[in-house]
Amino acid sequence: MAKTSQALPEVRLQVGDKALPLETVAATEGNDGIALSGLLSQTGLVSLDPGFLNTAACSSEITFIDGDQGILRYRGYPIEQLAQHSTFLEVAWLLLRGELPTQEELGKFEARVDKHMYLSDDFRQIFSVMPRRAHPMATLGAAINMMAGYYPESLDPKDPAAVQLATVLLLAKMPTIVSYIYRRAAGNALLYPKHGQSYVENFARMTFQLPGEKFEVPPAFYRALDTLLILHADHEQNCSTSTVRLVGSAQANIYMSVSAGVGALSGPLHGGANEAVLNMLAYIRDHDLSPKQFMEKVKSKAEGMRLMGFGHRVYKNYDPRAAIVKEQCDAVLDALGVKDELLAIARELEEVALSDDYFISRMLYPNVDFYTGIIYRAMGFPPSMFTPLFALGRLPGWMAQWREMVNDPAAKIGRPRQIYNGHGARDYVPLAQR
Ligand code: CMC
Repeated sequence: MAKTSQALPEVRLQVGDKALPLETVAATEGNDGIALSGLLSQTGLVSLDPGFLNTAACSSEITFIDGDQGILRYRGYPIEQLAQHSTFLEVAWLLLRGELPTQEELGKFEARVDKHMYLSDDFRQIFSVMPRRAHPMATLGAAINMMAGYYPESLDPKDPAAVQLATVLLLAKMPTIVSYIYRRAAGNALLYPKHGQSYVENFARMTFQLPGEKFEVPPAFYRALDTLLILHADHEQNCSTSTVRLVGSAQANIYMSVSAGVGALSGPLHGGANEAVLNMLAYIRDHDLSPKQFMEKVKSKAEGMRLMGFGHRVYKNYDPRAAIVKEQCDAVLDALGVKDELLAIARELEEVALSDDYFISRMLYPNVDFYTGIIYRAMGFPPSMFTPLFALGRLPGWMAQWREMVNDPAAKIGRPRQIYNGHGARDYVPLAQR
């Protein structure tokens, strides 16, 4: 249900003795906006907002977050309902097209993705030229960039058929690429996708099947994987999505734009946090620290440590994705027959944090990355693969946002201003006189 429409208040900016009326922009949900594009031409001033704490970079119809209430919806559908009832490819369609698919549409879409999962033998070579110790996110970004070279017929951002093809190719080849990155690091031969297996079945088998063995896991494994991908599928204008939009705003092709998003996602303050959480939990265990002792280190800020998997720019309440993952953790670990001492440490850390004034006063709650690593680990993924799994899930969101931007008549090349704080003009001093 959209919020009731109310006239927005008049907004005026007092500049010297002039009151400048500013145009307002209504949102169907969440914060309304003030249009500032005319500010420079009318006042000679620019707006300054490092980290975009207060700046909407676009209007979007895709994802809504209410950070105070802990609400997340894709195209209006609550994340809890999608996580419970949907599949990742259905959610991908929803994000990309705006509506849930009919049975026939979904069937055709799944078949089209299934058809393109294969990677040519030439392309497969790149996994063997990367060192085994390369971080998977470095290889992932490189592989996605390479797709621009392999599929030139899908590059034109202004050709809807080319964009549609690139969207399917990326969705289809990404699980194959991510599984090959893992197999290369593990020293195992690369497997081929099998027609007729679902998206997550193909991905898991290509990742984990050992030579001469059948790959068999309980249905709970696939359901959990599908759910985790759904939870990561979009999150409005986060750092990597904004990167994808910014690169795309120069009319760069979708592969280059998504690859740039992979780079942004790799950072530990963003998608890299899921790997960092696991490393943090292992550090606490290996140093025999109690959660309280670790928390003292975090609060003192002395070693620059943060409680990874906690805090969020938008959520000032429990991240609804974290609530879903936390709820599923026990059931998934039970179904997989895994006991994990790190889960107990995570639970204790959360309990300590949620009753500690440092975290309460700053409104720091668990985010999506806090518990996901425990499930990925139970499935058999090493921590270095956690962020590529995040990227696999986020791909439809990146592409939906890129496509929305490309089709938005109001979109312009992204080009922020600055407040210059350097030297005034000065004359060059010859080397011998310095
Ligand atoms: N542990 C300890 N203190 C924290 C944490 C944390 N995880 N997060 C924020 N703070 C403190 C921070 O030190 C600051 O304190 P003070 O007011 O005394 O200077 C205050 O809270 C506000 O922090 P901020 O860095 O200004 O907040 P931000 O909105 O710029 O940053 C964040 C958001 C997610 C980068 C940050 O909370 C963080 O670093 N969290 C840990 C990394 C993490 O889990 N990232 C995943 C985010 S969710 C998934 C995703 O986007 O990929």
